[in-house]
Amino acid sequence: MTRVFSGIQPTGEPHIGNYFGAMRNYVRLGEQYGQDAIYCIVDLHAPTNPLAYDPATLARLTFDMALANMSVGLDPEKVVFFVQSQVREHSELGWIFTLQTPVGELERMTQYKDKAGKLESIPAGLLMYPVLQAADILLYKADTVPVGEDQVQHIELTREIARRFNHTHGQTFPEPKAVLEKDALRVPGMDGQGKMSKSKGDTSTMGVLESMDSIWGKLRTSPTDPARVRRTDPGNPDVCLVFDYHKLFSDDTTLLEVADGCRTAGIGCIDCKKRLMTGIERELTPIQARASELRARPDDVLGGLAHGAERARAIAAPVMDEVRSKMGFLGAS
Ligand code: TYM
Repeated sequence: MTRVFSGIQPTGEPHIGNYFGAMRNYVRLGEQYGQDAIYCIVDLHAPTNPLAYDPATLARLTFDMALANMSVGLDPEKVVFFVQSQVREHSELGWIFTLQTPVGELERMTQYKDKAGKLESIPAGLLMYPVLQAADILLYKADTVPVGEDQVQHIELTREIARRFNHTHGQTFPEPKAVLEKDALRVPGMDGQGKMSKSKGDTSTMGVLESMDSIWGKLRTSPTDPARVRRTDPGNPDVCLVFDYHKLFSDDTTLLEVADGCRTAGIGCIDCKKRLMTGIERELTPIQARASELRARPDDVLGGLAHGAERARAIAAPVMDEVRSKMGFLGAS
């Protein structure tokens, strides 16, 4: 049996890296697996990075993340879609896994090193982040985890955590696998500084719900092939950020035309960016229209999440009973 689980942090507005790398995959796997596709807005993870967390905005960002996923096509009636802090078992299983995970393994995590490097004082929770992530997945005995490339190391650690628990306490958890969207492993940021990331802020991201004017404002000045200094210089689309975005948004004809136009200096960068805007509008405008409709019915969003949390708890409770009993806790069934 396949069971899918994935999570997304409410640390900022959802961007097209999240969308192409993960959210579209959630919908596709949701169509296939229905109630065995479980998706979670991981609000307990958000405060682990003090630079990206503000208690005054967390509830709004959590709501907006739910709204964006539903607008992209995630149906809370069809799949299980909920907020992590509403299912207490995540924290409990996370604690149990911290008991068995060597600190050295956690210190090797690339995301930890990146984030910790920017902080003067490192919260222990930042180090424990991937342990809670493992608990998210294994609480549902999920074996399939749709994510972007940046999460692969965490999924490998999840496998290790499952293996260790099974070895000590008897077969309990599957060893889950990451499922990657091959065309969008690592969508680059609009500032040309590495991958698009919520924590890098507004200059890096193209928001799924961002206005076309605002997107154009960033795209107009975003870097292109640095060797193409004048309009008449031929360019190389393979090193151009804008061409990376064309691959996500444009049809095959446009893709060939802009690649060819770039190489022969037949098209300037501004015109190439304008053609990209056509694709962006085509993809994002219907999502944004659904988001505006849904924003007028907040109870539908909140009701969908509450219903999802109920169903998630029903799956999680017996797994937690099994774990408590294997751990030897008094009173466990
Ligand atoms: P988060 O919130 O950073 O990102 C959510 C999903 O979007 C993918 N992603 C990208 N894909 C391609 N290009 C990009 N530039 C890009 N940026 C983000 C991420 O890989 C991710 O799939 N640790 C997770 C949240 C989490 C989780 C889980 C995921 C918590 N528990 C359990 C899976 C299973 C995270 O920070 O995602």
